[in-house]
Order: sequence, then structure tokens, then C-alpha cells
Amino acid sequence: MTYSRIVGTGRYLPEKILTNFDLEKMVDTSDEWIRTRTGVERRHCVAPEQTTSDMCVEAAKVAMEDAGVDPTEIEMVVIGTTSPDLIFPNAATLVQHRLGIPACPCIATEEACTSFIYGVSIADKFIKAGEAKCVLVIGAECITKLIDWNDRNTCVLFGDGAGAVILKRSDEPGILATHLGADGQYKELLYYPVGASKDLYKAGTDEAAIMMTGNEVFKVAVKTLGNVAVEVLEKAGVSKDDLDWLVPHQANIRIIQATAKRLDLPMEKVILTVQDHGNTSAASVPMALDVGIRDGRIKKGQTVLMEAFGGGFTWGSVLMQL
Ligand code: ACO
Repeated sequence: MTYSRIVGTGRYLPEKILTNFDLEKMVDTSDEWIRTRTGVERRHCVAPEQTTSDMCVEAAKVAMEDAGVDPTEIEMVVIGTTSPDLIFPNAATLVQHRLGIPACPCIATEEACTSFIYGVSIADKFIKAGEAKCVLVIGAECITKLIDWNDRNTCVLFGDGAGAVILKRSDEPGILATHLGADGQYKELLYYPVGASKDLYKAGTDEAAIMMTGNEVFKVAVKTLGNVAVEVLEKAGVSKDDLDWLVPHQANIRIIQATAKRLDLPMEKVILTVQDHGNTSAASVPMALDVGIRDGRIKKGQTVLMEAFGGGFTWGSVLMQL
């Protein structure tokens, strides 16, 4: 049987750190409110001249080194992001060229916080179909550039970063199942109001910022993420008792706790980075995976569930053996 397996991971976080105490000086909020409602304590923010592809390149270099893979071995690049450098060429194409990866399919996925999970699922299918043997998948975001820094409802939540994985074809079990979904009926609850064909004139004005009805998003996220976790386990025929780690999207500690509870998983088996990274959208899951592997908690052979939920709404999960 052919599998795709993650054989290397990496992450990049911008230098600048913004703490909750820094935010207290910018908007009417408090460290206490942010920590208790979201779990966030600090977040990294890109420099004005830094772009998503800059961060992708750095995270990818670390992942390639970890996997012992040379750029010339990579046969496909998939990048999940909601904050690409340009409308086109896509982020994957920019990164392919900058890393010296030979000409290959370069795919961008754009499902807000779920983009990386979509990317892994696509890469898995290409590998299983025999279309590629080695794929670079990245989730990256400079989402702090899409925020209204006067809006306390959103500016306290988000952070920037990039997480990368190398997926390789393998005879040993790797990705066991993936599950993807989306429902556009919720589009008004979480969106960015500017696009290439709609209201582009708003770009760079106060009207161009992430719009979110947080408490409504919260309710659907809790329900959906619980279901998504259970569905991918059922698809793979794996019991929740066999799960070693949950690597969830890091939007809110309370959403993560609810998902862990649904899986009867103690919080000791959940990788948490929300306190240090905030919600980094597409970057949150691959960066949390990298943290868990590098600090020695997630070990080879263990069963790991990754899941995410984002604007659209979109959602997805990946169950794998590392
Ligand atoms: N500081 C202080 N008070 C605040 C702040 C703040 N930063 N933000 C909001 N408040 C106030 C509100 O104004 C409100 O005050 P009121 O009662 O006087 O009107 C009160 O706090 C409660 O507001 P709620 O929105 O009901 O607070 P809630 O407990 O729902 O927490 C939060 C808000 C943290 C946004 C939460 O709803 C959440 O995490 N939602 C989900 C976000 C998410 O998962 N997004 C998906 C991924 S993002 C993507 O795809 C790009």
C-alpha cells in the first residue's frame, strides 16, 4: 500500500513580539480579558516589508533540512494562505522559484485557517495517485496586515508565521485519512471585504479589515470541530483511545478544550501554541506540529490528529501516523 508520510517539519516566526500588555496601550482591552477569553498571551508580527513568501522560504528551508531533502527532489509545492504577496503569481510559484525547486505543479489553497489542512489533503492524493513522490506543503500568513488595529474584537486574536512539512511517498503508514468540508451559508460571519473583482478600491483604507462575528463563529467552530475529529477517526477505522496527540487549529483555548473533551482526550495530549502565537490562521497547525515534534513530545510511530476551522466556513482534519 502506498502512503504519504511527513518526514520533516519547520517553522518561522517573525522577530517582533506583541504582548497583551502592548495591546492594552493600543485599544480598550486587558491582558486578563484576552487570556481568559482566548488563551493568547503574545503573538509575532511581520515587519512592514516582510511578506508571506519571505516567511514560507524560511520555514521551508528548516523543513527540507529536517527531512534531509534537497530542493531538486521536490516535485510539487502547495501553499495555504489567505494573505498571499500578490493576487498572482500564487505564493507556491514564488516560493518554488526562490528555493530553486525545479519546475513543478505549484498550488495555492485559500480556505482561511483551514488552508494548510486542505493543502496536506491535496498533496496526499497526488502522492497516492503516483503523481509526485516528494511534496512541500506550507501554511503561512501575515494576517496582521489584514487587521484594523483599532478594532479590539479582532486585533487581539491574530499573529503571523509559517509552518512547513515535507511529505514523501512511503510504504510505511503515514496519512491514514483526511476529511474536508465547507459551507458558504456562513460567509457573512467571517470574511475580508476586499478582492480583485469586488471593492478593490477599499484596499489600504479603514474599510479593509477582517470582519468577524466572534461569538457566532465560536458556536459553529465548537460543533464542527468535534464532528470533524470524530468523522476522520471513523473513516480510518481508528478508535479515539488510540490517539496519541491532537494538533488543533490555535484560534481559542476554549474551542480547543471543547474538541479535546469530545475526544475524551486529556489536555496533556494536546499541543498548545495559542498562548505564544495567537491565531496564525493557515500557519497555526503546521507550526504547532513542528513545536510538538521538536520538543520531543510527538514521536515517530505515534497517531496524530490535526484539525482546523476557518472563514467560509471551511473545516478539515488529517489523521496520520508520524
Ligand atoms: N477586550 C475587552 N473586551 C472585549 C474585547 C477585547 N479585546 N473584544 C470584545 N470585547 C467585549 C465585547 O465588546 C463584548 O462586550 P459587551 O458584552 O459589552 O457587548 C464582550 O467582550 C463579549 O464579547 P463576545 O464577542 O461575546 O466575547 P466571546 O466570549 O465570544 O469572545 C472571541 C470573543 C474571543 C472572538 C470568541 O468569540 C472566539 O474565539 N470566536 C472564534 C474565533 C475563531 O475561531 N475564528 C475562526 C478562525 S479565524 C479565520 O478563519 C481567519
